[in-house]
Amino acid sequence: MLVRPLLRWAGSKRQMLQPLRKIFPNTGALYVEPFCGSAALFFDQKPKRAVLSDINSDLINFYRCSRRQPNEVYEIANELRRTKSTYLRVRREIADTKDKLTRAAYFYYLNRNCFNGLYRTNKQGVFNVPFSKSRTGRMLSEEEFLDAAAALSSAKFSVSDFESCIETHVQSNAFFFLDPPYAIKRRKPFTEYDKSVFSEPDLKRLLGCLEAIDDAGGHFALTYDSALAHKFLLRRQWRQSEIIVRRNISGFADARKNAVEVLTTNFDYHDTNSHS
Ligand SMILES: C[S@@+](CC[C@H](N)C(=O)[O-])C[C@H]1O[C@@H](n2cnc3c(N)ncnc32)[C@H](O)[C@@H]1O
Repeated sequence: MLVRPLLRWAGSKRQMLQPLRKIFPNTGALYVEPFCGSAALFFDQKPKRAVLSDINSDLINFYRCSRRQPNEVYEIANELRRTKSTYLRVRREIADTKDKLTRAAYFYYLNRNCFNGLYRTNKQGVFNVPFSKSRTGRMLSEEEFLDAAAALSSAKFSVSDFESCIETHVQSNAFFFLDPPYAIKRRKPFTEYDKSVFSEPDLKRLLGCLEAIDDAGGHFALTYDSALAHKFLLRRQWRQSEIIVRRNISGFADARKNAVEVLTTNFDYHDTNSHS
């Protein structure tokens, strides 16, 4: 059964699923996604045991609630009108909403109605993406929502920085799918994940994690901007191949073009574009 991700997400791997399916292990290994976002590969492959982790606590609260009480999350979100005024009210109220279920439903509603599915906050950590009449996403049908929520039953969740997530789960029978944000040198006015901007020191920590996974006999697949991918080819037996992906991050027309990402793995797989 085809399951769609529950969320729209900047940098989602939905446009890259075909090449990623080739590297998905069929060994029953624990699937660990430390930068899970909308977890497009997880929903596509539905691994039997999984850890979905992200630094975004509202995102993980949404997944936890959708696994436990999917009907309720769906109903609360779908009772809200898809108008600018309702959107702005929900956006104002979410930060002070203590009830986890309501907060999860608000998160879903905002995700489906905001400009291009972006997640961006102000300096106080308050979600501030504008309403968009034309760049909203369709609300999932009840069946689509419940099917995707059911897929979450195999997952454990954590709100965590990637390094501690990896340290916790590193083992020989684990497959790590790593899809970090692109690193930038300084804060931009309109970034995708501004609460958790990824910077050069984060990249260094990530390199250490790749080596730790490899040393433990585990497997990883990392996708990254081709301009910086050379940094990740640390060990001779690691492989890289290019993947063309239709990018849709910023929502501005000129930024919606094909981009090349590089897939780095510490194992072999069948592919024609490999250039390690
Ligand atoms: C490119 S997105 C992942 C997209 C995902 N593969 C998908 O299919 O939607 C990167 C994610 O990393 C998360 N993130 C940013 N910094 C992080 C950190 N230090 N530790 C863990 N997650 C982080 C962001 O919240 C975002 O959800």
